[in-house]
Amino acid sequence: MAPPFSSSRALATALCFLLHLSLQAAAVAAAMDPAEREALLRVMEAVSSDRDWREAAAADPCSSPWPGLECKPAPGGGSGAAALMHVARLDFGVPPNPTCKDTATFPLGAFTLPELRALFLVNCFKNPDAITAFTLPPPVNLSASRLQQLSVRSNPSLSGTLPPQLASIRSLQVLTVSQNALIRGEVPQGLGELKNLVHLDLSYNSLTGPIPSRLGELRGLVGLDLSYNSFSGPIPSRLGELTQLQKLDLSSNNLTGGVPGTVTRLKALTFLALSNNGLRGRLPAGLSDLRDLQYLIMENNPIGVPLPSEVGNIARLQELRLANSGLSGSIPETFGLLSSLTTLSLENNNLTGRIPAGLSRLKRMYHLNLSKNGLDGVVPFDGAFLRQLGRNLDLSGNPGLCVADRTVVPDVGVGVCNADAVACKTSAAAGSSVGRVVRGEGTRGRWPAAQLLRPAAVALCCCLLL
Ligand SMILES: *[C@@H]1O[C@H](CO)[C@@H](O)[C@H](O)[C@H]1NC(C)=O
Ligand SMILES: *[C@@H]1O[C@H](CO)[C@@H](O)[C@H](O)[C@H]1NC(C)=O
Ligand SMILES: *[C@@H]1O[C@H](CO)[C@@H](O)[C@H](O)[C@H]1NC(C)=O
Ligand SMILES: *[C@@H]1O[C@H](CO)[C@@H](O)[C@H](O)[C@H]1NC(C)=O
Repeated sequence: MAPPFSSSRALATALCFLLHLSLQAAAVAAAMDPAEREALLRVMEAVSSDRDWREAAAADPCSSPWPGLECKPAPGGGSGAAALMHVARLDFGVPPNPTCKDTATFPLGAFTLPELRALFLVNCFKNPDAITAFTLPPPVNLSASRLQQLSVRSNPSLSGTLPPQLASIRSLQVLTVSQNALIRGEVPQGLGELKNLVHLDLSYNSLTGPIPSRLGELRGLVGLDLSYNSFSGPIPSRLGELTQLQKLDLSSNNLTGGVPGTVTRLKALTFLALSNNGLRGRLPAGLSDLRDLQYLIMENNPIGVPLPSEVGNIARLQELRLANSGLSGSIPETFGLLSSLTTLSLENNNLTGRIPAGLSRLKRMYHLNLSKNGLDGVVPFDGAFLRQLGRNLDLSGNPGLCVADRTVVPDVGVGVCNADAVACKTSAAAGSSVGRVVRGEGTRGRWPAAQLLRPAAVALCCCLLL
């Protein structure tokens, strides 16, 4: 069995050689500029709860994989001995990344790392006894930054305002400063300079003042989330210049005025949330031009107009939430055309008239809440539609509504129609005699009494109808 033996030895030799080569390559590639290495170690010491980092990473931090640290060779940089490694990404706060120490301070040194592309500080500053300030180096130190993604999220003990120097990190594409309850004050207008921004998320802070109109200059923006702050004043009409925008969330602020007509220029919009504000007045004409809009979330605003029928022409709509908005008028027949609709929430308004029968043709409908309105007439839903919705149908609090047949209706919060009233209407329309069918548990046991009372009831009902 000589040949296999010798060939496996040859293989082993070859493997050894390859291993040797790759180790050598690693040793060369791992080389790191001493100043950058020192800056990295200082960042680690400012933030990380791992006290032994300096010793453990003694040789070269980029030579072995460290959680939360990603290194890359210099972009387009030379080869061989010249291939320096650089810190490309730092990720602190959530395991398996390094958690932050109790006395962590905002790591200014990170912004001196020449090739840093992404910095994450998530759930990092949370010690109520060690409030730390959100600060950045002066603009000159930031202008050479290549940072593309900065994420400062879920830091309950990080305080201060949004540093205006953010505007100097021109390379930023994704900026997330979210869920930091102590971050307050106004948004610097200068953020309008960040022309490379694709996503801006400033949600769940304590920001105040107006929404800067210069955000309209961020022409590449795809997502803008300013929800759950205390922004006041009107929605800037310049936001209509964000023609790439797919998601706009301004909900849960203190915004007033109307919805600017320019939102109808946001042709890429799929998600629009403006709920929990002080917005009032007509919705802009042309909303149905938003061909891709799937979510229109506007509940809890004092809109106070008749429910616009144009909303029924927003062809792709999946969720429409306009509860608690002082809406009047009737539910437009056009809503029966929203074939993708899964959720329609119109509760607690002043809607009157009949429920459009077309709603029961909406095969995807899953949640329908029309409670607390002034709707009346017979509920036009068949058994299949009622089963489709189950407990997610709520029609309660509409005294004028009734269902024709209890046997097919689960508890949707309305009573069975007065059979005589139905018959009365039928007869008024058809000119035939009244009171043929009486359904419902309530009348069955008391048949004789009901029979005696019936002529009077029918007379009263017909009077009321006339
Ligand atoms: C800003 O850059 C200057 C000059 O390079 C340097 O001396 C200074 O320490 C830097 N400041 C910060 C906060 O990084
Ligand atoms: C909203 O604005 C009104 C009037 O400007 C003010 O009275 C109210 O305190 C504000 N609410 C919040 C939550 O900021
Ligand atoms: C309905 O309208 C009445 C009078 O116009 C008003 O007082 C009431 O607050 C409105 N209800 C809702 C829920 O908007
Ligand atoms: C409908 O809305 C009311 C609020 O007015 C709420 O109490 C109820 O739980 C909702 N019903 C369903 C089925 O979601």
